[in-house]
Amino acid sequence: MTESFDATEVIAAKRDRLELSDAQIDWVVDAFTRGVVADEQMSALAMAILLNGMDRREISRWTHAMIASGERMDFSGLSWPTADKHSTGGVGDKITLPLAPLVAACGVAVPQLSGRGLGHTGGTLDKLEAIPGWRADLDNDAMMRQLEDVGAVICAAGTGLAPADKKLYALRDVTGTVEAIPLIASSIMSKKIAEGTGALVLDVKAGSGAFMKGRDQAHQLAQIMVELGTDAGVRTVALITDMSTPLGLTAGNACEVAESVEVLQGGGPADVVELTLALAREMLTAAGRDDVDPADVLASGRAFDTWRAMIRAQGGDPDAALPTARENQVITAPQSGVVTRLDAMAVGVAAWRLGAGRSRPGETVQAGAGVVLHAKPGDTVRAGQPLMTLHTDTPERFGRAVDALDGGYDIGVEAPPVQSVIIDSVR
Ligand code: URA
Repeated sequence: MTESFDATEVIAAKRDRLELSDAQIDWVVDAFTRGVVADEQMSALAMAILLNGMDRREISRWTHAMIASGERMDFSGLSWPTADKHSTGGVGDKITLPLAPLVAACGVAVPQLSGRGLGHTGGTLDKLEAIPGWRADLDNDAMMRQLEDVGAVICAAGTGLAPADKKLYALRDVTGTVEAIPLIASSIMSKKIAEGTGALVLDVKAGSGAFMKGRDQAHQLAQIMVELGTDAGVRTVALITDMSTPLGLTAGNACEVAESVEVLQGGGPADVVELTLALAREMLTAAGRDDVDPADVLASGRAFDTWRAMIRAQGGDPDAALPTARENQVITAPQSGVVTRLDAMAVGVAAWRLGAGRSRPGETVQAGAGVVLHAKPGDTVRAGQPLMTLHTDTPERFGRAVDALDGGYDIGVEAPPVQSVIIDSVR
């Protein structure tokens, strides 16, 4: 096959701050997927994109080239409307677990193709795999059947959706090029558009525990993704939400499942409930079902029934005891006062180092590892009172987890202002 371009000329164009043409973008994404553009060439191009950016046309074309690299799914044969949610990733972000069954119980099917965690942010599949028997891998037929019967499925994305993104994401992860807005937007939206959902709600995180540390950057990312989705015919809205402190009181795998079950049973931390209901309302509205109030459905226990059906349909036992770690260590408050700061990144790295996450793809994670918080910003503590408990099967990990938390919290005299977890929206 004669190639239309040479990789070095495409890299040089972006290095020299030129716009890439549609033809150059289509070729480079396709040739990379075919193995003609080498990993080191794509890495150089990713760095040039990170440094010099892309305009809206380039981002849109890049997204469509990644969609074209694989298959597209189609949910139009279902008797339900569909809506999906995607979070850009955060610490203690277990929202998908209560949200998918809640929205299904409200009458909108949720096809949630999720990933495993890498680095300090947890993976939804790793969390659910803490449930004895639960399987993440479903083929397309099994997924469709479960969606029709139960209304919710959370499973691993097959290898057929946007394979260019899978290859590129693995390179970005080891070349310091994850944080490029054009690459994040096209990575997320290529998978979501290829998946074929009718409506999409994005949870774009801002703060220390997120890819986007600043609110302006998060807003810019949200705006680009909403435009990409809308242009592709997917009703798309984004909430920008706070990730300066962990969501809820748990960061890990089994402990996050337990907290999600509390929410589905009508309890759970206020911030987790607030965000779950806000995202559910957006998903229902985007799918044309704003006549249903998710708070009523949550209170009725129907979302919990759907959770049980969803877990059973994937081989899991919703009544089985969740695994617990063999060892724990308590961190106590060094002084009396009010917790004024608890850094999401510090807690995320601690949970990861305890064994809840992986540092290389394919590593196994510990189901019982993680951090359980006993106080959050705004809570009053006495000197010596437990602030958090660290859990792991491998106690030699405690030292590095404690190091990660060093400087990760402050105790002062004045309570910080009470703030909603929801900062802004883009529609
Ligand atoms: N999640 C993705 O799927 N892709 C990114 O680039 C970042 C977060």
